[in-house]
Formats: sequence, C-alpha cells, structure tokens
Amino acid sequence: MQNNPREQWGSKIGFILAAAGSAIGLGNIWRFPYLAGQNGGAAFIFVYILCVISIGIPVLIAEILIGRTAQKNPVGSFKALTNSKFYHGIGGMGVVAGFVILSFYSVVAGWTLGYLFEAVNGSLLSYDLAEEASNHFSVLTHDPLWNIGLLAAFMLLTMGIVYFGVQKGIELGSKIMMPLLFVLLIGLMIFGLTLDGASKGLDYLFNPDWSKINSDVILAALGQAFFSMSLGMGAMLTYGSYLTKKDNIPVSSIWIAFLDASVAIIAGICIFTVVFATGQNPDVGPSLIFRTLPVVFAKMPGGWYFAVFFFFALTLAALTSTVSLLEVVTAYFVDEKGWKRKNAVIVFGSLVTLVGIPSALSFNALENFRIFNKTFFDLTEFISSNLMLPLGGFFIAIFVGWLWGFEKVKQLVKEGAEKLFDKFPWVMGYWKIILRYVAPILIIIVLLYSIGII
Ligand code: PHE
Repeated sequence: MQNNPREQWGSKIGFILAAAGSAIGLGNIWRFPYLAGQNGGAAFIFVYILCVISIGIPVLIAEILIGRTAQKNPVGSFKALTNSKFYHGIGGMGVVAGFVILSFYSVVAGWTLGYLFEAVNGSLLSYDLAEEASNHFSVLTHDPLWNIGLLAAFMLLTMGIVYFGVQKGIELGSKIMMPLLFVLLIGLMIFGLTLDGASKGLDYLFNPDWSKINSDVILAALGQAFFSMSLGMGAMLTYGSYLTKKDNIPVSSIWIAFLDASVAIIAGICIFTVVFATGQNPDVGPSLIFRTLPVVFAKMPGGWYFAVFFFFALTLAALTSTVSLLEVVTAYFVDEKGWKRKNAVIVFGSLVTLVGIPSALSFNALENFRIFNKTFFDLTEFISSNLMLPLGGFFIAIFVGWLWGFEKVKQLVKEGAEKLFDKFPWVMGYWKIILRYVAPILIIIVLLYSIGII
C-alpha cells in the first residue's frame, strides 16, 4: 500500500522541539493565564504543576511509547498492538478529536494572526484604556469575514508545513519557531518585570491563597494539564511513531513537560505583571490577553515592537500546535488508507476549514444559535477538550497499565532509557501505580464532573 518508507525524526532535539511545539500553544499563552485569573492565581498554578508532574508526565510517556512501539497513527497503532475493536475505536476517536480541535483552535489562532496584522499596522497602539481595547476586540470578532478569512489563512499556513512532511516540514519548522518563541517571550517577561506594580502580579502568581483551592480549581487544573500537554488524542502518539528505539522516552517527556509548563508560567508573568501594573481585572476570561496587552503596548516605549513580537510569538506557538493536530489526521489517511501525504493534507485541511466556519461565526452571525445552550464553538470545544481528551487519556492509561502486559511494557519503555531505570528503579513502580490507579480514577472524576453528573 505504501511506496515510501515511513519517515522519522532527523534528531533527538528535533523530536523534543516538535513535541514541545505541539504542547506549547494557545493553551499556554491564551488559555492558561485566563484560567489562572479565573481560578485564584497561585493556588491554581500550584495544583496545575502538581497535575503535570504526577499525571501528565506518566500519561505522556505511555502515549509516546504506544506510538514508538507500533510506528503508526493512533488507529494503526492500536490495530498493531491489540485485537480489541474497542481500542481501534479509541484510536479513531483520537483522529476525530484532532479534526474537531483543529476546527475551533484555528479560529482563535486566526485571531492571533489578525492581532499580528493589527500590531504591525499600529492600530493596537491607540488604546489608553482597557475598555477601548475590549471594544476593539469585540468589533473585530463580530466581523464574520475577519474571522473566516483568518481561519482560512491560518489553516493554509498549517497545511503548508504538514505538506512537507516530518523532517522537512514539522521538524524544520519547529527548530526555527520554538527557539524564536522562547527568546520573544523571555524578552517580554523581562519588560513586564520592569513595570511599576509588577510585584503585585508576581504576588498573585506565586503567593498562593490556599483557601482558593476547591474541586473546581482542581478540575480546571487537570483539564488544563491534559489540553496543554496535547494528551489523550494521539498527537503525542503520532509524534512518538516517528521515533526510534534509541530515544529516551521518559527523559524526553520530562523535557517536553518542563518546557510546556515553563512557557505557561512565563506567559503568566508577561500577562499578570501588565494586568496589575495597569490596574485591570485578572478574571475577565478568554478575551484576557486581547484586552490587557494592547493597553500596555500603547504605553510602553518601543510598544510597536513588543506588540508585533508578542503576537508573532503567539502565532508561532499556535502554528506548531495546529501542525500536530493536522498531522494526526494526515498520518491516519497515509498509514491506513494509503493516501499520499500531500493529498491528505489538502483534502482534510480544507475540510477542517469548512467545519471551522460555524465556529468562526459563533462570535457574530451564529452568536445566538445554541445547541445545549452552547454556541457551535463552545460545543465543539467542550466535546473535544472536556470529553474526548480525558476519555482518550483514560483508555491510554488503562491500556498501558493493565491490558498491554506490563512485563512487556517494562522492556519497551526501558529501551533507550536503560540508565535511568538502573539508577532510579522506583520510577517503574511509580509509573505503574499512576497508570493503573491514580490517573484513571482522577480522570473519571473530571469526566463525570464536566458532564454534570457530580
Ligand atoms: N497543547 C496545545 C496547546 O496548548 C493544544 C493541543 C491539544 C494540541 C491537543 C494538540 C492536541 O495549545
């Protein structure tokens, strides 16, 4: 069915940067700060970090291991490892989740691209007050053509990268975009720290008020850890399928998680120093970065450059994530259906764009069109992020922890990581307990909660 041998990453760092690129995205720079702002700042961040370390990393290792062992997309991987039709369906759910997440994620990614244009033409620099910046945001998002045009533009960028394949597209793109992103964000953070009143922002981020921790905060933090680490739908599995046995999965996973969490914290510092220095509210929700930052860009010396850099960084971060989402769908049609990569990219990239249109219209023409009291955007986000990702994560943990055969799993995960397990033998036992008990139980609680059963 396939004429060409399957592609592989060209280097170890290439894989880490691509996987970190998938993880780091709007989830870190857009979603994390507004969730932290809504859930009490430092207390939320503390629980989030705990979730990343205790559950995120173990599930990430499991997901990458499945991909590396089977060397296939999510469906093909489960087909190679088990006869269970149910699990083949779980792989299928991952492919569908990739498609659906991409359709609404690209709408917000389109806004970042739109804000990059606004920054370049200087229109972001004319707001002295947060209200004016907020108004500007609602004027823009109320324009159907602005939304659809940017969605399509963003999808074209994504398709352009995935089209060129693993090494020449995804890996090369990530190697250029990720370091640039780090430099830009660190620059912005340093600027934020020099603002008068920055210390209030730091206090909010790092000085926990423990009384703020409740079940909502814990659930939001676990959900965010999953979303941010791209877990539960096979993106990391698919990236893992381009690895060789020489690669060290646990150490790479720790790196990916570390980079992901660091970018979230750095983005938090960038945004909350500004929020507090300009006397704004931390808990305004999803429009947070679009409302707060223009005000400070307008005030700061060299604001034009900072505005352009920030939205450029955000666009890059979003792009390395959308690439990983489209890659899951592409890999499925290439591996399972024998399609040519280029055709799969063009056909499914275009389809995602079409399915994204109702999401793009959810802020204007279809604002009042509700299903289960949710706009199309909110509904697709809810189904994919709150239901499919945790479900996928649950079944991945159960598969690796219980069904695959843990003796075999032990051998497989040790490949490339022999030294680690020799030095720290307890790591294996810890990983097993998390996969068998801790992760599944917590995920089920989150799931039941998010559909309103508890
Ligand atoms: N992790 C990405 C982000 O934080 C989003 C994503 C989720 C990407 C699931 C791929 C798969 O922005």
